Amino acid sequence: MEYDVKDLSLAQEGRLRIEWAERDMPVLRMIRERFEKDKPLKGTRVGACLHVTTETANLMITLKAGGAKVALCASNPLSTQDDVAASLVKHHKIPVFAVRGEDKKSYYSHINAVLDSQPHVTMDDGADLISTLHSERREQAEKVWAGAEETTTGVIRLKAMAEAGVLLYPVIAVNNAMTKHLFDNRFGTGQSTLDGVLRATNILLAGRRVVVFGYGMCGRGVASRARGMGANVTVVETDPLRALEAVMEGFEVSGGAAAAEKGDLFITVTGDIHVLRAEHFRRMKDGAVLCNSGHFNVEIDIPALEKMSRGRRRVRENVEEFLLRDGRRIYLLADGRLVNLAAAEGHPASVMDMSFANQALVVEYAKESHRYLEKTVYDVPEELDREIARLKLASMGMEIDCLTREQEKYLSSWEMGT
Ligand code: ADE
Repeated sequence: MEYDVKDLSLAQEGRLRIEWAERDMPVLRMIRERFEKDKPLKGTRVGACLHVTTETANLMITLKAGGAKVALCASNPLSTQDDVAASLVKHHKIPVFAVRGEDKKSYYSHINAVLDSQPHVTMDDGADLISTLHSERREQAEKVWAGAEETTTGVIRLKAMAEAGVLLYPVIAVNNAMTKHLFDNRFGTGQSTLDGVLRATNILLAGRRVVVFGYGMCGRGVASRARGMGANVTVVETDPLRALEAVMEGFEVSGGAAAAEKGDLFITVTGDIHVLRAEHFRRMKDGAVLCNSGHFNVEIDIPALEKMSRGRRRVRENVEEFLLRDGRRIYLLADGRLVNLAAAEGHPASVMDMSFANQALVVEYAKESHRYLEKTVYDVPEELDREIARLKLASMGMEIDCLTREQEKYLSSWEMGT
């Protein structure tokens, strides 16, 4: 078996951490038990490009238990947990191509190594497998059954491809499942982003001004968790509806330039480019801390910050100091990459349980249904989404009521009025 990981001697530590995550992934565990018995994925090759974490390891093990052949590479050069990669290779015989801190060349060679396994189903977090197939391996792309996409940024790219008529196979937007984005994006990003900031800096949030750029599901999570720790939170948002929602949630809402003057900690979660740029750096206080929790490291214009600086140095793990020409210092966390995965461990297992339950069921669905799907972007079938919610509630020991027959009838009728 070919693979490329940092050090196989880390495997035992990885195994323990994978088991620790598994305790908090009951829905995925139930799916794994069924997969082990029925082998619904027999004969299916899955190529996955995901953050190589303990939670992803549990997904890979589940797919393998279902009879799939899987190969895994990283969806970000800084998010790989090397001990997890080692354990997947050593204990589970799953080919992994990922080394934390890999450069761009080896990042793409690892993507190509996964594509060399000729997957029937691609599983992306940010559409890198699909992009590479469409730009460099088009003949192979024609033969792929279907893809699954984990994140908002990837779904946006794929919808643009579908609209331009260039998408070569159907893709299921796992991100859009309710049991994914309402929980993972909000509670997962909210908690893990602050976890990353705190592990990197150990700053006190209480009483500080935290500026959150973007008020989508992820931004909402970050803003509410920062407030929960006593920070004064400002939201910067360009969409009027979302901005209004932030106002009604009690956040201060302002333009980026005004917020730049007041902020102690800046967090970008927009999915867009150069959200923090020279005009903001110019206004920031000495000691301002910047980080990003959006998918790509484009949200902070690091080249512009570098241009304004007369020096830069690493002052702590995951913290770089930029000394500006006027003497102010600005601190950048984790190279502007996803701070929750680069400086912490990503979202906790309990929330990834639902995201990855979606992924596992979507592979099964893709195997059964790909012949009937068009070359476009689909949502996760609603019945799968609801089943995952039901299983999650059951795993938490919660019971919910059913509608009475009278209530069902009332909801489906139009004759009854005042
Ligand atoms: N994305 C965010 N958190 C993650 C995690 N823990 N594992 C995989 N992908 C993630």
